[in-house]
Amino acid sequence: MRTRTAESTQALAERLGRMLRAGDLLVLTGGLGAGKTTFTQGLGRGLGVRSGIISPTFVLVRIHPSLPDGPNPGGPDLVHVDAYRLESPTEIDDIDLENTLDSAVTVVEWGAGLVEHLAESRLEIELQRGTGVAGADAALEDDEPRVIRIHAVGPRWAVVDLSALAETVQ
Ligand SMILES: Nc1ncnc2c1ncn2[C@@H]1O[C@H](COP(=O)(O)OP(=O)(O)OP(=O)(O)O)[C@@H](O)[C@H]1O
Ligand SMILES: [Mg+2]
Repeated sequence: MRTRTAESTQALAERLGRMLRAGDLLVLTGGLGAGKTTFTQGLGRGLGVRSGIISPTFVLVRIHPSLPDGPNPGGPDLVHVDAYRLESPTEIDDIDLENTLDSAVTVVEWGAGLVEHLAESRLEIELQRGTGVAGADAALEDDEPRVIRIHAVGPRWAVVDLSALAETVQ
């Protein structure tokens, strides 16, 4: 999938967010500034959790509670992890994601190679800076194209059709 603006990356993530359930694990990859946090903000919108998703500088894990007056009251919280500074799966175990894994949606930036042992199913989402120039409809000067790939692993996703997401991307 391709998006041309940060807003359209968030809109895509928002639609995915509406499909998520407690226990889901998402692993985000892509270089510095590729849009992992931007994507997570969209997920938060779709899940209806408290806003304010930012790039954690020192904090590795932030929990965004589901909002009772949001679009998905009683839905799962969002656990947002930035694993950039972590080097091994053992360090991931130290931050105890297991505690919240079953009741929340867990999203791990830079999580590839670190969190796969936590759950039998996961979505791997790769964001990549595209080449070429932003579309004429780009809302902000710094909007640029991104290529976004979603790779589903495990039984949770075997029965879910994610192809509808692609049809709606602008
Ligand atoms: N199509 C796009 N999709 C997503 N972000 C975009 C797009 N075009 C421009 N941007 C901008 O790129 C930046 C992405 O920053 P973001 O913090 O989301 O990246 P990140 O992958 O989380 O970085 P880090 O590796 O530091 O955690 C934002 O400033 C966003 O506005
Ligand atoms: Mg980030």
